[in-house]
Parts: sequence; structure tokens; C-alpha cells
Amino acid sequence: MKSLNDQTVVVAGATGNVGPFVVRALLERGASVAAPSRSGEKLGGLRKHLSEHVDESRLGRLHTFVGDIGDEGEAAVLRRRITEQVGTPDAVVASVGDYVAAPSLLDARTAELQRALDTATLAHFVIARTFLPSLRDSGGTYVFLQGPLAFELYPGLGGDLVSIATAAQHMLFHALAQQAAESRASVVELVGHMLIRDRQTQPTSPLSGEAVGAVVAHLIAGAGQEAHGQSIHLRSPEQLADLGVDAHGLNAIAADARMPAR
Ligand SMILES: NC(=O)c1ccc[n+]([C@@H]2O[C@H](COP(=O)([O-])OP(=O)(O)OC[C@H]3O[C@@H](n4cnc5c(N)ncnc54)[C@H](OP(=O)(O)O)[C@@H]3O)[C@@H](O)[C@H]2O)c1
Repeated sequence: MKSLNDQTVVVAGATGNVGPFVVRALLERGASVAAPSRSGEKLGGLRKHLSEHVDESRLGRLHTFVGDIGDEGEAAVLRRRITEQVGTPDAVVASVGDYVAAPSLLDARTAELQRALDTATLAHFVIARTFLPSLRDSGGTYVFLQGPLAFELYPGLGGDLVSIATAAQHMLFHALAQQAAESRASVVELVGHMLIRDRQTQPTSPLSGEAVGAVVAHLIAGAGQEAHGQSIHLRSPEQLADLGVDAHGLNAIAADARMPAR
């Protein structure tokens, strides 16, 4: 496994439910994180939230950028600014999402399906088109965050629009992984069977946000190269050991990261 100390990782969707756990795991392991968002206010909230979990020196490696990473023109500008101010991205985590709830599919409006598709397919497409080409030469890892709704309908959750849109996102992942197969880049999909709202792991969730963050960091630290093209379903904390994630070591890193900066 390579160290994340000199790695620049772009986390798209850093301000969301899952993104903060990913950013935190990466900062705790020494990476520099570039976090774009359409909202400066949300980025301020992210920094404040993280300040409760990681020490100042690690938080100093969080670089925030205001811009719409789902828009082709703005994403290109973000890539240039990130490269100039932080460094050429070594890895990318795409954790954008939008849970467009619709109690009944036949009563849903076209605009609602459009919104779900805008995020799950178009924004993901733009992010990959913007950042994946440079990983083909450097050999970096690109991680798609994904949910179980892409593979199964969950009646009663109002998630049908999300299922439709994220199923398309799953095929986008497959097609991009196939395209990247001849290159040095690794493209991996992590399907997390967790429930995270407002940056909090919900009591009924089988997986914690910390566990998801740890697996993402593990993939970026080198395990992603072995897993190119794989869709990894993460259902329980017991799987971390199977994937080679050292949970004890992770706890130690996390505890160390909370120590005041010297
Ligand atoms: N939350 C869960 O319990 C859960 C469970 C399993 C899997 N997942 C997966 O994890 C990923 C992230 O989920 P999440 O719940 O963290 O998502 P989220 O909080 O709903 O959204 C994450 C971020 O995505 C960005 N975003 C949304 N639509 C966008 C668009 N059209 N263009 C550009 N950026 C956009 C927003 O960033 P800005 O507004 O800051 O720009 C938002 O903060 C998704 O792939 C989801 O399927 C989540």
C-alpha cells in the first residue's frame, strides 16, 4: 500500500452525507483533499464539521473550491485551479448524489426524474470526463460511490427515481472501467449498504460512515489497482478485514488525528 501523505485526492460531493466521512478518512491518513462545491456556505459547514474530528494540521490540507463540478465548463476551471493550487490529482472520489424521493412513480413529474438523472448520470459523466484522463497516465484510482437502489427496488422508500438514475450510473461506471482497462488508471465502484443522513450514520445502518471512509482510503492507497472494474458491495463491518482494511490500525490513525497539532 502506498502512503497517502503526498497524494492529492479530489472528492466530488464532499459536502453531502457520505462525502465528509470520505474527506475525513483521507485527511486522517495524510492526503491533501480538494473539495469542490457549488456553495461556499456548504464548504464552510464542511470545514466546521471536520474541525470537530481532525486536528488543525490535517485540516490545513483541506482545500475548498466553489464551482459546479457537474457543469462541463466549470469542471474544467475547477481542474485547473485544483492542479495549480493543490497539485495534479492522484485520485478522485465521485460521491455526488441527490435523493429525489417520489412516493409513486406514476405520479412523479418528469422534472423530478430529470433532476435524478442530472446528478447520477450527467454530473458523474462530466466529473469522469474531466478527471479520469489524467489518471490514465498517472495510474491513479477513480472511485464511484454507489447505493443498493441501483440494483434493487425498495418499495416504500420512494426511491424508484433514484433506482432508475443510479442504475444508469452503474452502467456508466462499467463503460468507463472498460475504456480505462488499457490504461494505468483503476476505476472501482463502491456500493455502500449504509444509511447516512446529515453526516450522521443512522442507528439502523449496518455500516458506519467511518467504515465507508476507511474502505475508500484503502482503495486509493493501492487496493483499487487490484480491484479495477469491480463493483464492491460493502454490507457489513466484517467485510473490512476481508478487503484487507486494518480496522485496528485505522482506529489508531483516527485517534492520532484527533490529537492537537504540535
Ligand atoms: N447517504 C446514504 O445513506 C447513502 C447510502 C448508500 C450509498 N450512497 C451513495 O453515496 C453517494 C453520495 O450520497 P450522499 O447521500 O452523500 O449524497 P448527497 O448528500 O445527496 O449529495 C452529495 C453532494 O452531491 C453534490 N451534487 C448533487 N447533485 C449535483 C449535481 N447535479 N451537480 C454537482 N454536484 C451535485 C452536492 O454538492 P454541492 O451542493 O456542495 O455542490 C451534494 O452535497 C451517492 O452515490 C449515493 O448513492 C449514499
